[in-house]
Amino acid sequence: MNPKQLIGEEATKYVKEGMIVGLGTGSTAYFAIMKIGEMVKNGLHIKGVPTSKSTEELAISLNIPLLPIEDVVKIDVTIDGADEFDARKNLVKGGGAALLREKIIASVTEFYVIIADAAKGSDYLGDFAVPVEVTPFGKEITIFQLKALGCVPKLRYKDDELLVTDNQNYIVDCKFYKIENPAELSVKMNAIPGVVENGLFANMANVIISEDGKGSTLKIG
Ligand code: A5P
Repeated sequence: MNPKQLIGEEATKYVKEGMIVGLGTGSTAYFAIMKIGEMVKNGLHIKGVPTSKSTEELAISLNIPLLPIEDVVKIDVTIDGADEFDARKNLVKGGGAALLREKIIASVTEFYVIIADAAKGSDYLGDFAVPVEVTPFGKEITIFQLKALGCVPKLRYKDDELLVTDNQNYIVDCKFYKIENPAELSVKMNAIPGVVENGLFANMANVIISEDGKGSTLKIG
């Protein structure tokens, strides 16, 4: 089985009858959502909370009942992917530009399950440039201020156009190379007025499900 499918399906073991379930974004979360769709078809009752417009469309196509975000105060379990993780379960997320909704949903999640293949693990975060969602207004100022924190910033484009997030903002990918203290760096980035949210998820994941390269799942946490 494809490793993403293996770990995506493994994560759905945390989903139980009656739960409110955060539905992640990306090619690994896809397999978890497909499996949840199958579980719902077979009689499971849950309510999903999607972390992006694309996940919302997928969930609707699978007839997974969704809870309007206005009605969400607590989520039992969220299953989401990551772009990089360390042994302390700190994450870089936002490769798919969904980091703001992902972090809002993670912030009210009781049990946060991350699914990421082993190649995304490293001693220190920083291999993957940290995606930062910024307001269009004053983006040059914000980029200048991000650079002052020690990164090489790059505005993200898609098909030769500036990428616009689900929340009508832009993404700046910030290459730090080695992040010694993700929690501290996250606070510093969010103190910049034009930063809406950053893709460092420090001390949020409860478990990371990965794959050992031989077809078995590995769990950190
Ligand atoms: C979306 O913005 C991201 O946080 C994804 O969860 C992350 O990029 C992982 O995606 P893949 O599972 O496709 O690698």
